[in-house]
Amino acid sequence: TENSTVSITIVGASGDLAKKKIFPALFALYYEGCLPEHFSIFGYARSKMTDAELRVMVSRTLTCRIDKRENCDEKMEQFLQRCFYHSGQYDSQEHFRDLDRKLKEHEAGRVSNRLFYLSIPPNIFVDAVKCASVSASAANGWTRVIVEKPFGRDSESSAALTKSLKQYLDEDQIFRIDHYLGKELVENLSVLRFSNLIFEPLWSRQYIRNVQFIFSENFGTEGRGGYFDNYGIVRDIMQNHLLQILALFAMETPVSLDAEDIRNEKVKVLRSMRTLTLDDIVIGQYKGDTRGGVTYPGYIDDNTVPKDSLTPTFAAAALFIDNPRWDGVPFLMKAGKALHKRGAEIRVQFRHVPGNLYKKTFGTDLDQATNELVIRVQPDEAIYLKINNKVPGLGMRLDRSNLNLLYAARYSKEIPDAYERLLLDAIEGERRLFIRSDELDAAWSLFTPVLKEIEEKKVTPEYYPYGSRGPVIAHYLAARHKVRWGDII
Ligand code: BG6
Repeated sequence: TENSTVSITIVGASGDLAKKKIFPALFALYYEGCLPEHFSIFGYARSKMTDAELRVMVSRTLTCRIDKRENCDEKMEQFLQRCFYHSGQYDSQEHFRDLDRKLKEHEAGRVSNRLFYLSIPPNIFVDAVKCASVSASAANGWTRVIVEKPFGRDSESSAALTKSLKQYLDEDQIFRIDHYLGKELVENLSVLRFSNLIFEPLWSRQYIRNVQFIFSENFGTEGRGGYFDNYGIVRDIMQNHLLQILALFAMETPVSLDAEDIRNEKVKVLRSMRTLTLDDIVIGQYKGDTRGGVTYPGYIDDNTVPKDSLTPTFAAAALFIDNPRWDGVPFLMKAGKALHKRGAEIRVQFRHVPGNLYKKTFGTDLDQATNELVIRVQPDEAIYLKINNKVPGLGMRLDRSNLNLLYAARYSKEIPDAYERLLLDAIEGERRLFIRSDELDAAWSLFTPVLKEIEEKKVTPEYYPYGSRGPVIAHYLAARHKVRWGDII
């Protein structure tokens, strides 16, 4: 409103995430007229920089979807005028007090609301939260803090982190981001389920044979090896992004669309899941490869990665939900870097039609004849349903065709970046897409024992060439549960 202001401080402003995602998302929100009337953005980092230098940095890295639009330059100039820089240490009360003074000047006596986005390494999280909350909290409006993963690296460290954060903040001030929840098709999952009659009644063990959550990248850890080696693909992708999607997919109908109602259901389903054992997971690591005269580096060729690293860059896992709805249905996950394709998909394979009249037409491979619903999260967002159809003609031949909702063909509107939605929600105090601490605990308890076992037993990953479809063990794991992976990788 006229009388209030929002200050957004990006702590770690010169980092990769700030440049690639946070500033561009804020600019897109500004461009769309979604930011409040009175707002300012502060970059906070250790290096010395002037406001003008920050603006140059931001303008150079604003490679967002907006930059091809009309009036972009003009809007960009206006936006940059609202961006400022403050140099300080992440653990200095004094430097945050200086920031507080600057913020007050900008707030000019209006009600002050402050959002801090912590885009810094985990070992300095708590110090920064302490300094921000003690020395730079809003005097009269709200103070909120967005934190990025990693939220610890196992149950214990995550609980310790939560405990430390709660010394300085209430749970409702902490916005734990999982950017997959801000993706358009992930948000749409609940719409698809709960507002279409034809899906929700089928959403159970009675009709669904298995569900697959697949994440694949066609590039390695390039430049991020130092971070990645301490976490690995299970913590980087599965325990958070894929598990969050699974929870939304499998939860019971929430009482309402309110954040607490949705998160209650997500926690419930996560807590109904079986803790993973070593039998439920396989791991891989990519090695260098030369194809067509081009040499692709292996994971351990990254000089920030120890040569003897066993850290998985690929994993496949089978998860089970022990509740009446999902008893016995395998939920398979697969995630990998340096594979042959980039993409993220949810695949739902339905059961066979009992006593199918057309059985003979399919020969022996009835598995090829079951329906499959595919939700392609990225790229080329789409939802399609594989159905059996008669090939036109005098004979009786069936094939499998797609009922296909391709977003690019159906909607002319561009799809916002996940960070746009999430930043806007944080500014508006909408918590639906952020992770509550009990969800986080439940997510860690599923994976912590197996991660420990993998590390203690020094389980060797199966090696796969850069750019391949990943190690063959992923197929054996699926086959044990009578599952065939969908064809993305
Ligand atoms: C991040 C992971 O959370 O998600 C990265 O740390 C990964 O390793 C990235 O590359 C993928 O996000 P997106 O939105 O590009 O699919």
